[in-house]
Amino acid sequence: MTDEEQTTEQAGGDAPFNWATADTTPVPIRISGLTNRFGDFAVHEDLDLEVRRGEILGVVGGSGTGKSVLMRSIIGLQIPDEGTIEVFGHDITAAEPDEEIGVRNRWGVLFQGGALFSTLTVAENVEVPLKQFYPELSQELLDEIARYKVVLSGLPEEAASKYPSELSGGMKKRAGLARALALDPELLFLDEPTAGLDPIGAAKFDELTRELTDTLGLTVFLITHDLDTLYAICDRVAVLADKKVIAVGTIPELLETDHPWIQEYFNGPRARAAVATHQRGKALDNDDSGKA
Ligand SMILES: Nc1ncnc2c1ncn2[C@@H]1O[C@H](COP(=O)(O)OP(=O)(O)O)[C@@H](O)[C@H]1O
Ligand SMILES: [Mg+2]
Repeated sequence: MTDEEQTTEQAGGDAPFNWATADTTPVPIRISGLTNRFGDFAVHEDLDLEVRRGEILGVVGGSGTGKSVLMRSIIGLQIPDEGTIEVFGHDITAAEPDEEIGVRNRWGVLFQGGALFSTLTVAENVEVPLKQFYPELSQELLDEIARYKVVLSGLPEEAASKYPSELSGGMKKRAGLARALALDPELLFLDEPTAGLDPIGAAKFDELTRELTDTLGLTVFLITHDLDTLYAICDRVAVLADKKVIAVGTIPELLETDHPWIQEYFNGPRARAAVATHQRGKALDNDDSGKA
């Protein structure tokens, strides 16, 4: 087939299909028919979900609904009983060992609780994935990259030589983020990043997440309980309930569904408080831009 024939075929007639400008990049994450069981207990059953490039997708659901297990499945740490999971077009569930490695360095993960190695400094923690994927890097270069990631994550440069026990809760999260960013990932997984932080620390972490997403062109899979986070920085929200993703959309779109959990969650008193905070924040932003 000539290029011209191919163009006509793809376009189906009228407007010529432009191969040069067409977005042919595979979607970051596509999950279909996912089932995960522990013994007789099914956490997920026939679950579908698609994550779009460049978005921050908030993932919510009651405690124990399988948010962390879903994340672990996507990054290949939990082998599903059924279904397929594609990350950037690579089938994670049926990947060759080499192929799997080819995509593993395209994501970074901040696990629930941070999970820093307590016997390593912050810089050494950041260097763990670097050494794993690029064993040929010199120590000097490793240190330089680690320092850069530490600062990128909003920590003072001195934090690089500190041990996790010497850091506050908020700083530990940032150190975990620095490690998640070590490999310049396109896809970032954050599992309850603001849990345990005070409201100001949480809001600052949210801001940082949004900023990094936009400047580094990340796609973010963000598990959270934090309604403020959902309102402040998530482009869409996926709701886990009844072993599935029962709805995905913007918060206004979700409010139109009449699932009881969604209504209770997004219309409860805590949600109303989050909306008020969010609107107050937006009003202040507008004020600022007026003065500038
Ligand atoms: N390795 C495991 N073995 C057995 N059960 C597990 C395992 N991991 C998670 N579960 C169970 O799966 C369910 C979902 O867990 P999880 O994904 O951690 O929930 P959450 O939505 O709170 O993150 C829970 O009931 C949990 O007890
Ligand atoms: Mg969890």
